[in-house]
Amino acid sequence: MTTPRIVVVGSYNRDIVLSVAHLPAPGETCLGLGRLESPGGKGSNQAIQAARCGANVAVVAAVGADAAGEEALQIWRESGVDSSGVVRLHDAGTGMAVILVDQAGENSIVVASGANERLAPDHVRSATRLIEDAGLVLAQLETPLEATLEAFGIARAAGVRTVLNAAPAPHALDAAALALTDILIVNEIEGLALSGETEPAGIGARLLETVREAVIVTLGREGALLCRPETDPHARGSHEVEVVDTTGAGDAFIGAFCARLAAGEDPTEALRWGLAAGAIACCVKGAAASFGDAAQIEALLAGAG
Ligand code: RIB
Repeated sequence: MTTPRIVVVGSYNRDIVLSVAHLPAPGETCLGLGRLESPGGKGSNQAIQAARCGANVAVVAAVGADAAGEEALQIWRESGVDSSGVVRLHDAGTGMAVILVDQAGENSIVVASGANERLAPDHVRSATRLIEDAGLVLAQLETPLEATLEAFGIARAAGVRTVLNAAPAPHALDAAALALTDILIVNEIEGLALSGETEPAGIGARLLETVREAVIVTLGREGALLCRPETDPHARGSHEVEVVDTTGAGDAFIGAFCARLAAGEDPTEALRWGLAAGAIACCVKGAAASFGDAAQIEALLAGAG
């Protein structure tokens, strides 16, 4: 039996991670304590984590015809992620993110989108067969909504499940996008922006009116809340780990969750994998560089690692 494919329509960024004693206040200059350059971008991160969990993954993305774009293709190759749906643009640079990480592992991120903001519906249409043959299509909000709508439209027509991670936090989200979404994943900030609610259960209940299958509210150290129609919300706590850097932990959660979902697992069970993957990602600096594989996740779940 082949594992159903996950198609991720999303971003790639080259991350420049600077460690700082504290996140600077407006107008403040602080000296960095360390610097790391590594692969990032919410779309690529989620794709790589899903692949590390054993899923068959393809990305539909846009990168520049520059060295960072070359690195993106290389990391996808090394991770076993199909990049046949990636376009290389000659008039835009590969996306870049500057990430400040303080000593408690919390971060601030600024993204220079570059090629990501040029991912167009036409590019997505070129990947129609990939999407129609997939088991799940996953998108975020670091690439244009028009491209996501195109992908979700193709997916819905072909009966393929859609998962939207509404990150970074939108000011508002097109009703059409939500109507094409089966599962919506937000953190509390994104959930507040979309629903006006502050409590996780309120966010879940409100957003459940707009999507088809489920809403997941991620809660950082507190775990996550899974909300489904006509069922009590299902809360699950996270794992206790020594936090070094939370960058990419949400992406790890989503990649692992989707990998298990695509493998046929129930969302409640898939949530366990998501939380374990998120916890592992907090233990090492960087985004994709910090992700665990299926064996590490299983070990944490078994209480052995
Ligand atoms: O979610 C973490 C990611 O957000 C980073 O890798 C950065 O590139 C931004 O996209």
